[in-house]
Amino acid sequence: MIVLGIESSCDETAAAVVGDNGVRGGGAVLSNVVYSQLEEHRPYGGVVPEIAARSHLSHIDGVVEQAMTDSGLGFGDLDGVAATGGPGLIGGVLVGMMTAKAIALVHDAPLIAVNHLEGHALTARLTDDVSFPYLLLLVSGGHCQLLDVAGPGQYTLYGTTIDDAVGEAFDKTAKLLGLPYPGGPAVEAAAQDGDPDRFRLPRPMTGRPGCDFSFSGLKTAVARLAERTLTAPADERPANERDVSDIAASFQAAVAGSLVDRTRNAIRRHGETHGLESRTLVIAGGVASNQYLRNALTALTDEEGLRFVAPPPALCTDNAAMIAWAGVERLRLGLTDDLDFAPRPRWPLDATLKQGAA
Ligand code: KG4
Ligand code: ZN
Repeated sequence: MIVLGIESSCDETAAAVVGDNGVRGGGAVLSNVVYSQLEEHRPYGGVVPEIAARSHLSHIDGVVEQAMTDSGLGFGDLDGVAATGGPGLIGGVLVGMMTAKAIALVHDAPLIAVNHLEGHALTARLTDDVSFPYLLLLVSGGHCQLLDVAGPGQYTLYGTTIDDAVGEAFDKTAKLLGLPYPGGPAVEAAAQDGDPDRFRLPRPMTGRPGCDFSFSGLKTAVARLAERTLTAPADERPANERDVSDIAASFQAAVAGSLVDRTRNAIRRHGETHGLESRTLVIAGGVASNQYLRNALTALTDEEGLRFVAPPPALCTDNAAMIAWAGVERLRLGLTDDLDFAPRPRWPLDATLKQGAA
């Protein structure tokens, strides 16, 4: 089974061809093309929706063509065409979805509208031999959730953030420290030679029951600390690289501490529900490429006797291989969509949540 996937919900225009017969029990990535709009958004310090939509429109044809060429296959070889149907910036989702619909129609292939979050959620099954059910920590620019994953379309939400997403916290911290956009990788790089123990930042929600997250208090604490420590005017920062590194390292340690605490509670809950049937923790989303966090979760799962699966960083940040793979998974179950599928700016994974609550 071979599926073309298209991703265009944020600032990456991406296309990939994926098959279902990989060597490690997962899938095979036959091509994976990502055009990053980073340079187009950098002057604004964040993603500008209008610029993103126009850029997707300019690049999508070339990116799809490249993915097909790299795969060595023709459109006629495809068993399905998958595209992100939401959640995300609606202009971009429309561009990807329209492209997928046109290809599906012309080549008489089924269309699969994929929830972007499901793409992240199932990536571990593309890269590794992972069976359902498993516990998922989804950490991206727009989300921070712990979920029970029982199958495509079958998710139970254990906890979510009550304010900011974790990637957002990284991006805002980077801004406060005068680090370049995008913030996550910049904070991780700055933290590399920083002292995580120099500043004691709050580890939000730690010790509380349940699996919810909160990052706005930590953000405020970082803002105060930066104000106190970095005395140079904002446009001259980083004034003191040592201070910036130490704050970045302290922030990263606080985030990891909080995520580990919440995940520990989720492991307990997951164990009560599934017993020994499910002893796997999977991490996904852009923030999952953070090595410090991966190490902290490795320590947690060692302690708790769980298997830990973290896809390679390039498949944690936005890409189309994950969309193609979710397409494969859905196609296997006969879960296809009509050509009149309407893109959804909001689309929660847990079907028991009302649409609009994502
Ligand atoms: O999943 P993703 O690529 O896009 C969304 O669906 O949101 O995640 C992007 C987020 C951004 O907030 C970015 O700063 C963060 O992931 N990120 C990181 C790292 N790489 C990307 N955060 C921490 N450490 C990283 N190495
Ligand atoms: Zn994403």
